[in-house]
Amino acid sequence: MTHRIGIIGGDGIGPDVIAEGLKVIGAAGVELEAVDYDLGGARYGRDGTVLPDEVIEEWRSLDALYLGAVGTPEVPPGLIERGLLLKMRFALDLYVNLRPFVYPAGGIDFRVVRENTEGAYAGEGGFLRRGTPHEIATQGSVNTRHGVERVIRYSFDLAMASRRHLTLVHKTNVLTFSGDLWDRTFNEVAAEYPDVETAYNHVDAACIYFVQSPERYDVIVTDNLFGDILTDLGGAVSGGIGLASSANLNPERTGPSMFEPVHGSAPDIAGQGLANPKAAILSGAMMLDFLGESEAAASIQRACADPTTDVEGTTAIGDAVAALVS
Ligand code: IPM
Ligand code: MN
Repeated sequence: MTHRIGIIGGDGIGPDVIAEGLKVIGAAGVELEAVDYDLGGARYGRDGTVLPDEVIEEWRSLDALYLGAVGTPEVPPGLIERGLLLKMRFALDLYVNLRPFVYPAGGIDFRVVRENTEGAYAGEGGFLRRGTPHEIATQGSVNTRHGVERVIRYSFDLAMASRRHLTLVHKTNVLTFSGDLWDRTFNEVAAEYPDVETAYNHVDAACIYFVQSPERYDVIVTDNLFGDILTDLGGAVSGGIGLASSANLNPERTGPSMFEPVHGSAPDIAGQGLANPKAAILSGAMMLDFLGESEAAASIQRACADPTTDVEGTTAIGDAVAALVS
């Protein structure tokens, strides 16, 4: 069975790491029909295109999207990130951002489920009297019962398939409104999952535990902004951001899900063959797993953990992983 995948290499190191991911997927024997999309900062610089609605409509018939990284220093900061990446997550309702961290040397084997369509990312807020001495800026966090409940339910299901432990991370002592909604919803859903042991950590404490006692975690569920920050820390304590993979999921499969490394376009090292493609390769494995190719996915994950693939250079790493899965 051939899977139709939209490929957005993007900017900087993005196209290079995605090329290695596609090489490894091919070596693992999975057939993809790749549909290329030239999008990102470079494309914007050429003709002002960010992400047309027609492209999103075209994507709805694909099996998945595989994205490298977007953003270039020449483009106003945030324009491509919001106009492409966030637009994609929102329009395709990719409400689960799943980021696994596995690093046996550090006692780490946990997954963060980051809510991916709401919170501080929803764009609520505005200015009053902008540019005056009495300027006011507000930036709200949008938390709906529907949005919170569905990502919590996904996390309980994931915990059931894992070590049956789920931690809610928030800041309920200060964020009394959104925190209350998250906490109540978490506890209500927990009652339906008596076999899952639950815990709660404030986000600042979770930062300490990520460094000092990460073995306490199995599945973590948190909001969009806390999840963004925590997963960079997760990468840093589990072998570096060069290994951090992610899946932006539409669990109901009413459209394509999107798979991307957690890292950015790293323009400072682009085109030098220095980027570690493992985060992209492992994101490719998550994509295969979601598409039902679980054997190929597992073999890619094993290969990435094999010491023989700890070599220097983007293509050399890709070749070493490909050699082990073929
Ligand atoms: C990520 C990134 C994005 C985010 C940026 C590029 C908008 O940091 O995927 O973690 O904040 O979600
Ligand atoms: Mn981030």
